[in-house]
This record gives sequence, C-alpha cells and structure tokens, in this order.
Amino acid sequence: MKRKKPDLLPIRIYGDKTLRKMAEPVAEITPEIEDFINDLVHTMYEKDGVGLAAPQVGRSLRIFVVDPFWFREGGQKNPIILINPKFLEFEGQVESEEGCLSLPEIYEKVMRAKKVIIKGLNENDEHIRFEAEGLFARAVQHENDHLDGILFTDKVPKLKKILLRKKLNELKSTTDENGINVGNIKL
Ligand code: CO
Repeated sequence: MKRKKPDLLPIRIYGDKTLRKMAEPVAEITPEIEDFINDLVHTMYEKDGVGLAAPQVGRSLRIFVVDPFWFREGGQKNPIILINPKFLEFEGQVESEEGCLSLPEIYEKVMRAKKVIIKGLNENDEHIRFEAEGLFARAVQHENDHLDGILFTDKVPKLKKILLRKKLNELKSTTDENGINVGNIKL
C-alpha cells in the first residue's frame, strides 16, 4: 500500500483538554488510523520521545507507541505500537525519574510496577503480548496512563506536587479558550 509521507503532529501540552479525557477504544484499524499511527511514530522520534500516546497529539484513541531501546541500540528504530492495550499482570515496585513531552522541563520520580505483562493489537491488527521490565515496563505504564487521562505528575507525592504547582500553572496558562494547548513548540 502506498503511504503518504508522515506528518509531524503538534504535541498537546499540560492544560489541554484531550490529555484529561478517557480515550476511546479503536473499533477498526482503517487506512486513516494506519496513517495516523505513522504520524504518531514519526512524531515520537522527531521529538526524541521514548513513547507517545494518541491523546498527546489531540486524538482521544487508545493507541500508543514506545521504543525504549532506541537510544541504546545505536539508532536502530523498533517502534512498538499498542492498540487497545490491557495489562494482564503487575509485579513489584520501583521508583525512577520520568518526563513527558506534554510536560516540558518537568522531571520527577514516579513509583511504577517493576514488571508488567501487557497485551493489545499491533498496527497489523495482530494480537501481541509483552512481558516488560525496566524502561520498557515504565514506558508502557506511563503511556497507558495517557489513555486514561492520567499524567505522571498526578502520581508524585503531595509535597512534591505543591512544589510543582507553579510550573504546572505556567504551562496551563498557555491553553486557549477551546482547551487546546500546543505550547510554544515551533513546528
Ligand atoms: Co507522557
């Protein structure tokens, strides 16, 4: 199939309405959804993300992409696309620092499950299932939270959150009257 050249999608920033919505399951992987997935993957790499979820580019759909091994494997890109993902198991707990393309310049330690088993569909409509550890496990938990309208800053301890409030309010202040916030990112 002939594909269009992927687009760089504007990243929605904290304060944007779509980031707080419960995303809808994908009913069918149409050619339009396939194009969208290509754009999402392209945007993740262009923005140096380890992962990117559809709501972060303004689409309230249960789709995300992760590539936790990209930096380590010398530029080899292996995007993992998960559509309608579901966790089957969580094991252990571990705290580590996270950031998010929708929360520029904010980095905080977040507690996550150490190991997870996750299943879903890939871009070819095939059932896939992963046992994830380390950054892979962290990335799928972070991205899956985006599908439920949850941001990593929601998970930091209360005291830390008070310290973060000023930065968050600054980000939020750039949201327009329609609740859309693509920040100051130049595209
Ligand atoms: Co994020």
